[in-house]
Amino acid sequence: MGSPYKDLYIYEVRGILDRVPESWRERGYLGCWYEGGYSFLFFSCPSKEFVLRELPSLGDFSLRTETSIPYEQWEAGVPLGAFRVGSFWIAPPWEMEPSPEVLVIDPGVSFGSGFHDSTRGCLHLLLELFGEKRPEKVLDLGTGSGILALFALKLGAKKAICVDCQPIAVEAALANGRRNFMEERMEVVLGDAIEWASIEADLLLANLHLELIVRLLEKPGFPRARWCILSGFVGGQWELILEKAKGRSLELVSKRWEGDFCSLLLERRNCSVTLGEDPEMTP
Ligand SMILES: C[S@@+](CC[C@H](N)C(=O)[O-])C[C@H]1O[C@@H](n2cnc3c(N)ncnc32)[C@H](O)[C@@H]1O
Repeated sequence: MGSPYKDLYIYEVRGILDRVPESWRERGYLGCWYEGGYSFLFFSCPSKEFVLRELPSLGDFSLRTETSIPYEQWEAGVPLGAFRVGSFWIAPPWEMEPSPEVLVIDPGVSFGSGFHDSTRGCLHLLLELFGEKRPEKVLDLGTGSGILALFALKLGAKKAICVDCQPIAVEAALANGRRNFMEERMEVVLGDAIEWASIEADLLLANLHLELIVRLLEKPGFPRARWCILSGFVGGQWELILEKAKGRSLELVSKRWEGDFCSLLLERRNCSVTLGEDPEMTP
């Protein structure tokens, strides 16, 4: 079996369409992204007539734009395929089976195939960190497909809390957890990174955009973790992040460039975080 993803047909709808009927999946519906009051409906086949016909029954929604792109253009501009991180493989389900050395990831139309430079940088920093230390509890803010949290679990972490504001990412992360038989070690939450940033953990992962990382670093009490892997910045933006991080007693352990993207591994010096009982699952 090859990739089930060929072309993507994307319909931008005015309004937040948060109750898409399950029956749409039989018509090639893959999921929805929400942004700025609009819903972006993804289909695997041309569906304009279908969308126009169905929308009125769901409420006051109207079609704004339609576009079609090859699946490869969705995230990193390359087709999905197996790749190595150290001695591990990360592969789509149509190429490999899960095993102790293989993490199977199907991102669907969430972010997190492993081919984006920001993700790739974080994966390598995870490998580096777990080569020397044993973080047990991981908080993954902006989990997307769950790839970073699942790789941390594969490397030896015991538990991961994964947060994303897009329902499609929550679905993908849960499905990838099941695919790798690690769902019992994951909590996947639909929520905002800023609100969930105070959860205590050994390791915090945040591959987000610059403005959001800055907001995290300005949040009082952040981070409640000894190690942080931060990514999502280009060019010289990492210097701003490092400056802000220093104000939080975070010191640079390692910096990794992949293409234009820089990822940082930071450690909190004199960390007074005591890692004990699981905190309640509330932000
Ligand atoms: C660049 S992707 C990273 C995905 C994955 N962690 C990876 O490294 O490939 C950023 C993710 O953060 C999510 N996100 C963006 N803003 C967010 C917010 N305010 N709260 C929670 N998740 C957010 C997006 O939906 C997306 O899945």
